[in-house]
Amino acid sequence: MDWDFRRPGTTICVCYQVTNSQALEAWLSADEPSVALLGRLFHCGNHCALCVPYFETLLAQWRQGQWPTENPCPDASG
Ligand code: FES
Repeated sequence: MDWDFRRPGTTICVCYQVTNSQALEAWLSADEPSVALLGRLFHCGNHCALCVPYFETLLAQWRQGQWPTENPCPDASG
């Protein structure tokens, strides 16, 4: 099966074994969702940082209501 960073449960940060579902949970309960928050909570981006652009894309798509469909951002307009 191909690696799909948008598939729920997929490990995005390999260095610290953090999934996109963990990121989503953190963003849902945060006042100010950000990729930096994932760094503070899970150390994402503190080693190779290859996960950062993927988390940035997921966060942007989540804010736009494009990812994932079952847990839309409360602020997403569409
Ligand atoms: S994959 Fe996240 S810090 Fe390396």
